[in-house]
Amino acid sequence: MKISISPILLLFCCTLLFIGCGEDKKPPKKKAKVEKSQSKPKPKKATTIPTTKSGVQSSEMDPEKLEAAEKLIAATSEEDVAAVDAKKNYKKFCTSCHGFKGNAKINAATDLTKLKSSLTRKVAQIYFGKGVMTPFKGIMEDAEIIAVAKYIETLKK
Ligand code: HEC
Repeated sequence: MKISISPILLLFCCTLLFIGCGEDKKPPKKKAKVEKSQSKPKPKKATTIPTTKSGVQSSEMDPEKLEAAEKLIAATSEEDVAAVDAKKNYKKFCTSCHGFKGNAKINAATDLTKLKSSLTRKVAQIYFGKGVMTPFKGIMEDAEIIAVAKYIETLKK
């Protein structure tokens, strides 16, 4: 009797061990899958950075603000715009973030030397501000805002 029980006990213990080992191995596989799925979204976020090889894409702007900027440009005489010392205004109000050359990117400011956006879009940005950039409505006159928007187009490389 003693001889016949021990092999069964041995088998039983072996199967228990086998199951035990199998269960131990499964969780790390699951963890590895979780790590993979967590690391995947990171490159997706990187692709949303509005930068292309040819230049910086303009960030989004409310359509109403673009419309207002268009009206502002239409309502301001070219003579008034031409009379503005735009470089002086740029140095006074913009260099703290964009730098003298426009490419400083202080406070995550857009690189103006690589920016591809319309004059309307630029005027809207300066007039209403966006994100960290403060609005210059009331700080500069309308003609000054348009003149500065035109001036920064000369900073392009
Ligand atoms: C306080 C820092 C700061 C100052 C001062 C500042 N900017 Fe900006 N500017 C930014 C930031 C930040 C952005 C990016 C904003 C965004 O789109 O989220 C930006 C974006 C821009 C853009 C890009 C608009 C587009 O098409 O996406 C223009 C044009 C611009 N600034 C012009 C100017 C001019 C002109 C002045 C001076 C009158 C000025 N900025 C002053 C911080 C600043």
